[in-house]
Amino acid sequence: RFERIGREPDYSRYMDLKEGWLDRRIFSDADIYEEELYRIFARSWLFVAHESQIPNSGDFLTTHMGEDAVIVARQPDGSIRVMLNSCPHRGNKVCFADAGNTRRFVCNYHGWAFDTAGDLKGMHEEYCYDAGDIDFKNHGLKNVAKVGNYKGLVFATFNSDAPSLEAWLGDFRWYLDMILDNEEGGTEFIGGCIKSVISANWKFGVENFIGDAYHAGWTHDSGTRSMNNGQPFPPIDMDNSYHASVNGHGWEFGTEGVGDLFLLGRPKVMDYYNKIRPKMAERLGEMRSKIFGSVASASIFPNVSFLPGISTFRQWQPKGPMQFELKTWVIVNKNMPDDIKEEVTKGVMQTFGPGGTFEMDDGENWENCTTVNRGVVTRHERLHYRCGIGRQIEHDTLPGIVYRGQYNDANQRGFYQRWLDMMTHDEFGKMPARPEPQLGNVGETRNLPGLFAL
Ligand code: FES
Ligand code: FE
Repeated sequence: RFERIGREPDYSRYMDLKEGWLDRRIFSDADIYEEELYRIFARSWLFVAHESQIPNSGDFLTTHMGEDAVIVARQPDGSIRVMLNSCPHRGNKVCFADAGNTRRFVCNYHGWAFDTAGDLKGMHEEYCYDAGDIDFKNHGLKNVAKVGNYKGLVFATFNSDAPSLEAWLGDFRWYLDMILDNEEGGTEFIGGCIKSVISANWKFGVENFIGDAYHAGWTHDSGTRSMNNGQPFPPIDMDNSYHASVNGHGWEFGTEGVGDLFLLGRPKVMDYYNKIRPKMAERLGEMRSKIFGSVASASIFPNVSFLPGISTFRQWQPKGPMQFELKTWVIVNKNMPDDIKEEVTKGVMQTFGPGGTFEMDDGENWENCTTVNRGVVTRHERLHYRCGIGRQIEHDTLPGIVYRGQYNDANQRGFYQRWLDMMTHDEFGKMPARPEPQLGNVGETRNLPGLFAL
């Protein structure tokens, strides 16, 4: 689109993060959404699985990278491959199951069969092809450019120029280790995946979990009281709580005292964490052992979030500018006793399952933010993201861009800065090929509503 009209997109007009405002159109404009798929989802490292979901050779699951359907499969040598879930013959979806174990993926339409690496191995009535009609080697399921694993979380990218996964996560690994490596044995997903569809822009989910402690005591007040003997959300200690942002990823947390875990109302889980806390301190240091267990939430750019302590792990899968599919799992330490895992699961379902008290509160807000922001007059009014804009600090221990005070929009600003950088700059790698420009002068004077009409 932009090549055709000979201009680079100027997304900087959609936000000024130093001033602290955003343009509402990034939450509903179809053209911007399409560009996000090219510029962000096709170039980022995207979460595709936890390795515990596919432990054995032949285990697979299906998911999406942006709107591209993919299969994630464990190979006989233990490695993990990620490939398009689309047949090279006519494009049909090859695998319809959410997860399973197989030797072959066989297409429903004409019976082309692929092994778990995606290689084409045969088809129905193979004799119909003459010699030279088909090169088996070049007609497998297209594999993604790179697959990486950080302490059990498997990521993939379509971008052959992408930096290593370690570089992509950067110093955010210091924070991630609190959830992934707080006890020997690492983590696992237990139970299945819960999917629900929410009529909201995907970024509202991410920005809520990256740093919106501000909404919790208000939006979730009645839910919190109902689960906590009438007690409200605890007050935030603004002197000992922070926002930390690295490469668009973000974690908000306190450093004093246990807070998040009380929400579960499950003393057995609290006891467990308190029991392992000294060992956690040996493993991760005193500071991180205290952060883990504070009121906290986090997101990994672009579309994964989790709540340390509460143990919900989730992905906001884009399904158009005004809809996302929310996939949620329960993440636990592998070495937890089974009864504690059971308690954690109940706690997650009670709070952040689709029928959970808090999930329903949030979904309604995000849907209304999305639809109301779209009004033709409303969309031109700026949104406020300035909270705590003067509270950036240097901290001896905490990596990243750090702001003091958990009631803050700092991580949201960090997320949108990364969004802006990826939407604007080429250095993040090649994008997939675009459709050929149309003939004639159709595009030359085209002014796209919503993109250039401020
Ligand atoms: Fe898959 Fe024809 S579309 S075999
Ligand atoms: Fe919430």
